[in-house]
Amino acid sequence: MTNTLEHIAVIMDGNGRWAQKRGLPRTAGHKKGAETLREIAKAAADMGIKYLTLYAFSTENWKRDKEEVDYLMDLLRRYLKSELKEVQERGARICFIGERQMLADDIVTEMERIEKETAANDKLTLCVALSYGARAEIVAAAKKVAALAASGRLEPEQLTEDMFKNFLYTAGIPDPDLVIRTSGEQRISNYLLWQIAYSEFYFTPTLWPDFSPEELKKIISDFNSRERRYGKI
Ligand code: FPP
Repeated sequence: MTNTLEHIAVIMDGNGRWAQKRGLPRTAGHKKGAETLREIAKAAADMGIKYLTLYAFSTENWKRDKEEVDYLMDLLRRYLKSELKEVQERGARICFIGERQMLADDIVTEMERIEKETAANDKLTLCVALSYGARAEIVAAAKKVAALAASGRLEPEQLTEDMFKNFLYTAGIPDPDLVIRTSGEQRISNYLLWQIAYSEFYFTPTLWPDFSPEELKKIISDFNSRERRYGKI
């Protein structure tokens, strides 16, 4: 039996521990993690996955040491510049979800550029959660709905789930079928709370820098053996 698998959402966890185990600075784990990200995105595209959402930086991550935050932001800067060509060649679309106002102006400019230049691609949509927090996303959506109601353009009684979801950062993106978290942690950490209502979960002890296309294939085969009922019998 196979289940429809259009969208995989990943929490890339364990970069710091991977580095510490090797006596390396945490930043070395992020560097290797960025390579894993590239490899997994390619593998997902080759497997025909249409949407891959990756948790690259949470709103909580701003509380880490300045040195680590600066390193991640520099990695992102370099990445946005260096990957565009390959992303284009592979026909992938990039989009970002999260609170852009927290990010440096030059990074936001690059993000907007890459979104615009890849907007017409439809092989794989790579959705990067950056400065992202699900509760903040839901509150932002509620504010937009409240403003429409206050201005008389929406009757509160008319609001439906289908309407509400179009106010989230993920408007137009189907809900994840499968959520994978690496590094053995079994929690959601404020990730896509609205969108994962009926997702399947897979927690693996593998640290993100060691995660491989082979493991992804195994997880997908486990996913295919599950029975998804969406609340029905
Ligand atoms: C979690 O590991 C990982 C992150 C907070 C960052 C994820 C970033 C990458 C995979 C690199 C690519 C990202 C950008 C922004 C270009 P952790 O540091 O929480 O590991 P730990 O739990 O072992 O400390």
